[in-house]
Amino acid sequence: MLNDMTKTNNTAIIVAAGSGSRLASETPKQYLKLKGVEILAYSVQSFRSHPEIDEVIIVTSENFLEHVSNQHPECKVVKGGETRQDSVFNGLQACSPDTHVILVHDAARPLIPSRVIDRCLASLETYDGVAPALKPVDSMIQLEDTGFKNLQRDNLRIIQTPQCFHIDILRSAHASGKIDTDEMGLVKQSNAQARLGFIEGAPETMKVTRQIDLDIIEKYLDTVEN
Ligand code: CTP
Ligand code: MG
Repeated sequence: MLNDMTKTNNTAIIVAAGSGSRLASETPKQYLKLKGVEILAYSVQSFRSHPEIDEVIIVTSENFLEHVSNQHPECKVVKGGETRQDSVFNGLQACSPDTHVILVHDAARPLIPSRVIDRCLASLETYDGVAPALKPVDSMIQLEDTGFKNLQRDNLRIIQTPQCFHIDILRSAHASGKIDTDEMGLVKQSNAQARLGFIEGAPETMKVTRQIDLDIIEKYLDTVEN
């Protein structure tokens, strides 16, 4: 369908232009260090070292353009926008004309195993878009005006990144004028025909949001190093 077979590149866009307001740290969370290495650098390294990724674009805020360009001279670095969706859009504008597949990843998720990237790319042979998903481990409820309702945990998923698409699908979603918090939502809203699928994510791809997330990931890194 929209898949242009003459293009071959797989481009990772790492969005790192947020301010991390929920963490309340002076430095945005993607520039904090875990075991001496910047959070952003972990995912940059995972994508750069993956044999099927051809290009890595980092989207950052104006204040950090110079810092990120210095840290990652091998990546394209572009300025972000007001919302995550605007930041992804700016990344899309910067990708190489050969780009065939886009993988949008949150810089706030430092740990992305290569097997998850493998699964995403393999699934794009069947789907227009795919994202890693996890089954919730806790009971889930939905609050209602009076009380709450229990949700069927088996039917729920936690959605992570990278969210991966054939580029034309993602470009048309961005051109649709719709707004969503992630690419799967945006593509679903803008294209009822899009074939969207989910692959199994990894628990360690958790997003750094609160201080305790930093502590948990650092502990996890201790266990995998030893
Ligand atoms: N992001 C971005 N541009 C924005 C907002 C967010 O590139 N305008 C990025 C963040 O840097 C992060 C990812 O999108 O890597 C996921 O967003 P989130 O975890 O919500 O990060 P922040 O928006 O920075 O945090 P908070 O919502 O707590 O302010
Ligand atoms: Mg946010």
